[in-house]
Amino acid sequence: MIISSSTDYRAAAKRKLPPFLFHYVDGGAYAEYTLRRNVDDLASIALRQRVLRNMSELSLETELFGERLSMPVALAPVGLTGMLARRGEVQAARAADAKGIPFTLSTVSVCPIEEVAPVMQRPMWFQLYVLKDRGFMKNALERAKAAGVTTLVFTVDMPTPGARYRDAHSGMSGPNAAMRRMLQAMTHPFWAWDVGLHGKPHDLGNISTYRGHPTGLEDYIGWLAANFDPSISWKDLQWIRDFWDGPMVIKGILDAEDARDAVTFGADGIIVSNHGGRQLDGVLSSARAMPAIADAVKGDLKILADSGIRNGLDVVRMIALGADAVMLGRSFAYALAADGQAGVTNLLNLIEKEMRVAMVLTGTKSISEIGLDSLVREIDQYQTIRHVD
Ligand code: GLV
Repeated sequence: MIISSSTDYRAAAKRKLPPFLFHYVDGGAYAEYTLRRNVDDLASIALRQRVLRNMSELSLETELFGERLSMPVALAPVGLTGMLARRGEVQAARAADAKGIPFTLSTVSVCPIEEVAPVMQRPMWFQLYVLKDRGFMKNALERAKAAGVTTLVFTVDMPTPGARYRDAHSGMSGPNAAMRRMLQAMTHPFWAWDVGLHGKPHDLGNISTYRGHPTGLEDYIGWLAANFDPSISWKDLQWIRDFWDGPMVIKGILDAEDARDAVTFGADGIIVSNHGGRQLDGVLSSARAMPAIADAVKGDLKILADSGIRNGLDVVRMIALGADAVMLGRSFAYALAADGQAGVTNLLNLIEKEMRVAMVLTGTKSISEIGLDSLVREIDQYQTIRHVD
């Protein structure tokens, strides 16, 4: 199969993965309006073409939390990445590291912190949820620190999980889920051999390490539902701020007032995100939320964004709207499922090439030159973008 974009990787992942895993990655919450809008809103933003500006010298490098990045992209935390490819978190981390960009390990990864951090040259980023079990949170933070993690990504948009219809239909959850997953594995023999058989243990590695006994996939949905804490508020985050001396990035901000609160709290960064449309369906896409947030807090902390970014043009669009950098979730997950570390490496190279084309043809030589001026100004349908003077 010819691969020239993340769309191709999605198709390849669909063929390779048992449906319960493909739909877990691919799906969103409820009717998936926000999932679609994330992609469509971003794609419909018109880049402003400029020509004949001598674009021979181009730099995609940027700095984030004291780190040099070869391009303004990081891999987002994705749960169960180790079910998509054999020891998948390790493979993705290696690809990101070789490319010179950060890899973020999810709390609900298959490979634990201690397995992934040592394969990287640069410090791994670690994502933590607000969980009822503060003992687990403290344990995870201590282990992350011991493994050399500096940047902590703290996810706040999951005080309760959104309903994902596809998971119930695909066998990820719902009646006879274990049996259905087994049947799916049998009809996807390459995955069954490569990941199902040789990719073990299929634990939630970080949680098993804490509990001292395996926490398997069958516990995943139940574990999430039982452990997310709806009582959380900014003051509950204070002990983490006190404990964590490295950069702390709040993930799941979609509103300018929350972004200001993050500044008041003392966050080093925010991630403008609706969890890839996996939480509250019907909320704004990240692209539409971004301009007001950038107006409110740009320069006070670093602004990252995810949700809907599928190629290098989208990276440039999101930066033009106000982000300092972006995170890739699904796009890298598809590439990993399709072709492991090599797939992620190739995807990152494609993203870089696409960014270069977008920068050459918008006349922007560096990341700091990309701004609202790189976009066509009259985009009437988007009130939030229309504030451009
Ligand atoms: C976990 O954060 C998920 O979105 O499945």
